Amino acid sequence: MTELVLGLETSCDETAAAVVTGDGVVLSSVVSSQAELHARYGGVVPEIASRRHLELVGPVLRAALDDGKTTLDDVTRIAVTQGPGLVGALLVGLSAAKAVAWSRGLDLVPVDHLRAHVATLYLEPEALEPPFTCLLASGGHTLVLSVTDRSGFDVLGGTLDDAAGEAFDKGARLLGLGYPGGAEVDRLARDGDPEAFSFPVARVPGLDFSFSGLKTALLHAVRALDERELERRRADLAASYQQAIVRALTGRLRAAAEQTGYASIAVVGGVAANSELRAALPDAHFAPLSLCTDNAAMVASAGRFADPVPLPGYLGLDAYASAPS
Ligand code: KG4
Ligand code: ZN
Repeated sequence: MTELVLGLETSCDETAAAVVTGDGVVLSSVVSSQAELHARYGGVVPEIASRRHLELVGPVLRAALDDGKTTLDDVTRIAVTQGPGLVGALLVGLSAAKAVAWSRGLDLVPVDHLRAHVATLYLEPEALEPPFTCLLASGGHTLVLSVTDRSGFDVLGGTLDDAAGEAFDKGARLLGLGYPGGAEVDRLARDGDPEAFSFPVARVPGLDFSFSGLKTALLHAVRALDERELERRRADLAASYQQAIVRALTGRLRAAAEQTGYASIAVVGGVAANSELRAALPDAHFAPLSLCTDNAAMVASAGRFADPVPLPGYLGLDAYASAPS
């Protein structure tokens, strides 16, 4: 029987479901973003996120099946994000997945959100074969990885403070832009001069990152300008700030690739949608734009390479907030 994986993702503020074939063809990918709901608070409010997931998980799951022109009768396994993320939000997806798997007698595969981001690269039509060196840059994580097989990775470096996406979001807030800020900084930066301001790239040993000094540098630059001047220089600030983040990311990815010696490099996670980063790494494999930020196609993809947990064991699965160390 050919595998048909139904993926579910509710780790943060996107409620997502997708149907992916065992060969990695995406039949459907539905993402309902709650970003607008959280925008007025300037970040994700966990309790609000959980409640909204609860309302959306059923309709989104049904929409993914409809879009994929399939039914639960054809699905062979359910893959669901178990962590890391907001525990209350994760539990909604995990409980829904347990219920559907149990009622249909299906296998359930718990998936790690970070592995799921990497598994975006294993989707058709341009599936990438390990080994490769990978940068995972999202709102919650910034890691350089050595990927030698499709079921996991080794961590070569990570951030000592903020994640790259977090740096984008905090920078956006300092520049008076909305939440989430990465895409808005990206847009505004197109009209700016990246050399206008000189922002530092942190000197951290090894393959680690640090973005907190950069954020402080932006704060000082913003404070040094009066309101009119700030308005006039906003695009320059965005472009210069973005360039500093992109330089830090590309520098570490190149150094990591040198260390592993693998021919291919790849970038995944929400920040992989950044146009400047994509332009700076013309030789890298990027997740398609629609699959950079959180989605369930990546979860279903990862679910193809992990072992299912049999009934009744999966009924006892719990969500986890941070990556197991
Ligand atoms: O992977 P993701 O959807 O969620 C996490 O797992 O964290 O990543 C979201 C992050 C946010 O911080 C957002 O600002 C950032 O990805 N992001 C971008 C862009 N689009 C989304 N950052 C820079 N440029 C973009 N175009
Ligand atoms: Zn993510």
